[in-house]
Amino acid sequence: MKAPYQYDGLEAISYDLVDELSDFDDYAFYRLLIESNPGPILDLGCGTGRILVPLAEEGMDVIGLDASPEMLAICRKKLGSGSENVRLVQGDIRRFDLNERFSMILIPGFSIQLLLEEDDLDACLKACLAHLKPGGQVIIPTYLPWEMLESGFDRMPLEMHRESETDENGQRFVAWQGWELDRFKQRLTLKNRFQQVDSSDTVLVEEDREMTIHWQLPYEVQSRLGQIGFSEIDVYGDFQTDKSAENSESIIYVAKI
Ligand SMILES: C[S@@+](CC[C@H](N)C(=O)[O-])C[C@H]1O[C@@H](n2cnc3c(N)ncnc32)[C@H](O)[C@@H]1O
Repeated sequence: MKAPYQYDGLEAISYDLVDELSDFDDYAFYRLLIESNPGPILDLGCGTGRILVPLAEEGMDVIGLDASPEMLAICRKKLGSGSENVRLVQGDIRRFDLNERFSMILIPGFSIQLLLEEDDLDACLKACLAHLKPGGQVIIPTYLPWEMLESGFDRMPLEMHRESETDENGQRFVAWQGWELDRFKQRLTLKNRFQQVDSSDTVLVEEDREMTIHWQLPYEVQSRLGQIGFSEIDVYGDFQTDKSAENSESIIYVAKI
């Protein structure tokens, strides 16, 4: 089993400021589903707590599991003291044993797509199944790169992607991104460059990272979930309960035990 993709350095520090998920609008979707199935929650690949922190602030019992000590440290800092309802665990979403069962397991931020091999995906889904209470659900958002697939290109060079506001020291983060598609293997490699820049645009720190994600079509994911043992699978588009997954960039699977 390969080591998980490591979120560290500038990528971790700048995550809440320049990652495209930092202003993503998916919280209400999770919240709505949690409301219909309350109980303890497991957030797999919780990262800096983009979803976990607001859940914790609403008083919910939540465990966050992530492989990256740096992302977890940021999450811990955001939680502050007095979060008795939250536990953060460093671990791997492909092999965890928390000795507890949950009403809801979330895998926000498309983290499951960082599992590139079929065995990795199966291991994660089996671990989810083993950690659900009767009636429990796992919410698995996935991303389909339609725009790139339809662009006619197989790769795009680095271009400026996002930048943060300038901080009190006059510094900011700049993220560049290029990409490459492997249509046959259904993999998208994001070529990311992270920079910390000062007020005169001098680059103080620069780090290049490559992240590959695996995309699967709905029938592939549904059949895998069925084989693993999930009994009912709902499919939603773009984090809306009334939107069909057809033509959606985000396809969300809600699988019930
Ligand atoms: C795209 S970020 C999503 C973070 C957060 N869920 C969000 O929505 O903002 C992916 C997260 O998954 C974690 N991760 C990736 N592979 C992992 C693995 N095999 N086990 C545990 N965590 C993993 C990374 O460390 C990172 O924090």
